Amino acid sequence: MKLSIENTRKFITENELSALKADAENSLKLLHNKTGSGNDFLGWVNLPSSISQNDIDDIQSTADKLASLAEFVIVIGIGGSYLGAKAVIESLSSNFNNLQTNRKHPIVIFAGQNMNEDYTYELFETIKGHSVAAVVISKSGTTIEPAIAFRLVKNHIENTYGIEAAKERIVAITDKARGAMNTIANKNGYKIFVIPDDIGGRFSVLTPVGLLPVAVAGFDIKKLVAGAANMENLTDANISFDNNPACIYAAVRNILYKKGKRVEILANFNPKLHSLAEWWKQLYGESEGKNGKGIFPASVDFTTDLHSLGQYIQDGERMLFETVLSVESPKYKFTVPEDDENTDGLNFVANKRINQINKSAELGTILAHIDGGVPNIHISISEINEYHIGELIYFFEKACGISGYMLGVNPFNQPGVEAYKKNMFQLLGK
Ligand code: PA5
Repeated sequence: MKLSIENTRKFITENELSALKADAENSLKLLHNKTGSGNDFLGWVNLPSSISQNDIDDIQSTADKLASLAEFVIVIGIGGSYLGAKAVIESLSSNFNNLQTNRKHPIVIFAGQNMNEDYTYELFETIKGHSVAAVVISKSGTTIEPAIAFRLVKNHIENTYGIEAAKERIVAITDKARGAMNTIANKNGYKIFVIPDDIGGRFSVLTPVGLLPVAVAGFDIKKLVAGAANMENLTDANISFDNNPACIYAAVRNILYKKGKRVEILANFNPKLHSLAEWWKQLYGESEGKNGKGIFPASVDFTTDLHSLGQYIQDGERMLFETVLSVESPKYKFTVPEDDENTDGLNFVANKRINQINKSAELGTILAHIDGGVPNIHISISEINEYHIGELIYFFEKACGISGYMLGVNPFNQPGVEAYKKNMFQLLGK
C-alpha cells in the first residue's frame, strides 16, 4: 500500500505539517501505551500479529463445515458486526458473484442490518428450497435489528432441519459472558466465537466477526491477517512520522479539517471497493463525530458518480477534500474493439485497455479537483487481494485512532447512537 500526500501540497504548508508531527507521534504512542481515552478498547492495535495458526484453523474448519452444509450462509449483524465482512467479501468477489452458477462456496447474504419488512420477506423467498446455515454476530447481544433477524432465521432453521441439526448450522459470535445472544447460544449448544472485550465493533473485522464470513465465502483469511500484520509493523510505535503512513494520513486530515475542509470523500474507481468505503465511513464517522467535532466521511464510486456528485465536488461549496483509493492493476484484461465505421468516434481508444481509460479518468479527475480547490490524498494498492485488503484495513484503523486523538475526542466510544434507540423503545412501549 502506498500513500501520497503530494496533491495536498498546494493547500497545506510544510510548516503546518511539521507542526503536527509531534502530536501525531504522541497520539500513536497513546495507542500503543494504552494511556489515551478509550484505552480499554485497544485490543485491535496488536491483533493481527497475535492471531495464531490455531485461531485461523478453528475459524477455517467452522467455515468449511458451514460451507459443506449450506448453499446460503446468512450472516446476521449490523454496524461493526456486519460492514467489515461485507467490505472484504465484496472487494474479493466477482461483481456478479451472486448470479454465478457452479460455485465452490456458499453465497453469503446479510440480514439484521436493517428492519425492512420487504427485505426480510424477500430474503426468505430467496432461500426457499435452498440449504442454509447462519452466523449471528452481536457483541452486546442486545441489538434489536440482528436480534429480530436471528429469531426469524433460527425458527426457519429449526423448522427445516430440526432442533438437533440446527446446532450444526448456527454459529454465534458474541461477548464471552454478557448479553442475550450468549445465553441463547449456550442454551442451544451453538459453536461460539468470542469477541474480545477490548475490541469495539468497528475495529473488529480481523476477529471472527469478519474472518468467519470471509472464510465462508472462500477467501484466504491467513493472507488477510498477514497483510494487516505487515501494516501493524509499518505503523508501529517506533516508526517516526515521516515513515509512518498512518501518522501522515491522520495529520493531513486534521490540518485540512482545521482549514475548513469538513468533509472527506473516499473515492474509488473500482466498484468492488464500494463496501470498503461503507466500512470506512462507519469507522471514521463513529470514531470522530462527537463533541460537536469531526470530519464527515462520505464516499463516491467513480466514474459512475462523476456523472452525479462530480458536479458538486468540482464546483460546489469548498468544504471538501478527497482521498482516492486506487488499484493499479485489474485482475483481467479487456480492450476496446476497433470499428471500421467509427460512427461513435471511439477509435481514439480502440485497442486500449479499459483500465488505461479508467486510469486516465482517475488522473484527469484528480487534476480537475485540485484545480477546483479540492485537496487530494492518494492511497494505492497494486491489486485487490486478501493481503492488500488486510493492509488497508489495519492502515485505516490505525490512522483513525491517531486522528481521533489528534482531534481531541475518544475515538472508541459511540454515545450518540443511543439517542434514537431511546425514542424507538419508548414508542414501542419497551
Ligand atoms: O462499532 C460499533 O460499536 C457499532 O457499530 C456496533 O458494532 C453495532 O451497533 C452492533 O452492535 P452489536 O455487535 O453489539 O450488536
